[in-house]
Amino acid sequence: MTTETTGTLSKPEKIRRPRRMRALSRMIAYLGLRKALLTLVIVLFFVGTVSFIFLSVMLGVAVNTLSGPSTTADLYQQVMVMAGLSVLTFISYYFGYRFLADVTQKALFQIRQDLFEHMQTLSLRFFDRQPIGELMSRVTNDIDVITAFFQQPLGTMLMGLFMLVITLAAMFLLSVTLAVVACIAIPLMMGLVWLLAKVAGPAFALLQERLADLNGLMEETLAGEKTIIAFRQQDAIAGSQTVVSEGAREVGSRAQVLSLVINPLTVLVTNLDVSLVALFGSVMIINHDLSVGVLTTFLSLTLLFALPLTTIFANYNFILSAAVSANRIFQIIDEEPDIVDKPGAVDLKPVNGHVVFRDVDFSYVPGRQILKKNSFEALPGQMIGLCGPTGAGKSTIINILTRYYDIDSGSIEIDGQSIYDVTQESLRRQIGVVLQEPFLFSDTVMNNLKYGRGGATDEECIQAAKDANCHEFITRLPKGYATILSDGGRNLSQGQRQLLTIARAMIANPRILILDEATSNVDTRTERSIQAAIRKLQEGRTSFVIAHRLSTITNAHQILVINNGEIVERGTHDEMMKAGGFYYNLYMSQFKGRVADILPGASTHSKGAPV
Ligand SMILES: Nc1ncnc2c1ncn2[C@@H]1O[C@H](COP(=O)(O)OP(=O)(O)OP(=O)(O)O)[C@@H](O)[C@H]1O
Ligand SMILES: [Mg+2]
Repeated sequence: MTTETTGTLSKPEKIRRPRRMRALSRMIAYLGLRKALLTLVIVLFFVGTVSFIFLSVMLGVAVNTLSGPSTTADLYQQVMVMAGLSVLTFISYYFGYRFLADVTQKALFQIRQDLFEHMQTLSLRFFDRQPIGELMSRVTNDIDVITAFFQQPLGTMLMGLFMLVITLAAMFLLSVTLAVVACIAIPLMMGLVWLLAKVAGPAFALLQERLADLNGLMEETLAGEKTIIAFRQQDAIAGSQTVVSEGAREVGSRAQVLSLVINPLTVLVTNLDVSLVALFGSVMIINHDLSVGVLTTFLSLTLLFALPLTTIFANYNFILSAAVSANRIFQIIDEEPDIVDKPGAVDLKPVNGHVVFRDVDFSYVPGRQILKKNSFEALPGQMIGLCGPTGAGKSTIINILTRYYDIDSGSIEIDGQSIYDVTQESLRRQIGVVLQEPFLFSDTVMNNLKYGRGGATDEECIQAAKDANCHEFITRLPKGYATILSDGGRNLSQGQRQLLTIARAMIANPRILILDEATSNVDTRTERSIQAAIRKLQEGRTSFVIAHRLSTITNAHQILVINNGEIVERGTHDEMMKAGGFYYNLYMSQFKGRVADILPGASTHSKGAPV
């Protein structure tokens, strides 16, 4: 991994120009994916340009015909040739552009594909580092910029390049002296390119960054709309939006003005060049070194020669933007996944569910250790309860068992096999998780359930939904199982979402089950029925149940009490209640809270199990 990709993705401002240009050429190399078609495009452009230039040559020939002793028949023939050349130019260019569209669309498809596919391989650590708005900006805004570049300017510039080279060759063939005079435009134009790159380049890079900021803010604002309304922060948000928008507007107009003033400058250079050629050419005609026809051809060639240069300038802002965007996209594509299968990793065979943690140390960010020397053992079929204060590290233990993150030291084994020696796919297939924040896809209820296991039948899904107590509310939805859940299930209550994720885990039929606060969002009655469902699900499986409400885990074979990343106490509910330690206090404080809710004035003398 390079230093640039270890921190948050670097800002465009810091990107050096060679790096941007490398990214651009790498992006253009994607055109090579359809080599045969690309070759055909090049041939067609070549033929089109050569015939186009021959038109200018024929113009000169016609002028000479007029001033010489030729007949009308000669002129007629020349006009026919010119008409033929025009048709040939049209056909070549038409098909050239037509096939170029296929080539560029294939390239764009592949870039998008590479980006999305690669993002799927990246670990959670990468996503932790990136503000989601920034990532969204890359997958939307940057891809759009590249698409725009591939669709229009790229073709025009490719053509321009042909025109430039072939015209130059034709000019030197016609008259070396005049060609040299016409070439005076080249250093002048190059000076303008340099000026534009120097002045407008950074402005465009900055613009891209401002747009990313704006996108990020928009994304966050939309996602947090409820909170914004609840805290009456609409005005403040609108205010900061204005500030960020204003920033983008300012930089945008600066970048645009800079690129626009370049246009009149290039026209000026072109006209000066044509005048110079006309002046030198006329002198040569007077000295009988040149015919009028050749000068006519030459003047139109000079215009043709300046045209592509102007085109390249007119599109230079597109090139700059595309280069910046390409660089930002390749930064993601080049980001190495930090959680990878070991070479020669084998599939984890169907397990019994014997899980062993030995001296596990873990930190999300280097230097800030979260888990310290965690050791425990879960025998096949056992239920392990995890409890402890908020932020203690309970979910973290689960995150490392599923290899969402890799540990710093120690070992984790399932059925005697290190989870680091097996493929992630086979490991996760055997672990079912119900996460703390239920997540559902914007798809039908049925498809969300099927997500648990590819190939699950409708009947299996409905059975699981019944077991998890969601069948009833699903059938009450407008279209039952075919109802589309909008935006991650916002049209369901939090508890209903949680129930669906439980059903989904049931369908996955894993050997090891993880429930992270799975019942924290449901009412007591539903909780009881879920408990029953979970108990059924737990039969013959090893399960890890994280719970704040300790009543959920009192029947666990073993309860681990986590505090500050350490297992401070362990044992069964009864053992720890007798011991009167951390767990006892935690339990009693919840118990008191509950009794106080029901019976104001209840004292600490109350005995018995909380409900
Ligand atoms: N993605 C992350 N990046 C950095 N630090 C994290 C990340 N996730 C959690 N932490 C930190 O790790 C510690 C343990 O978090 P964890 O989510 O495991 O707590 P928890 O015990 O599950 O708490 P809760 O009961 O509130 O769910 C916390 O201090 C938290 O700030
Ligand atoms: Mg948690």
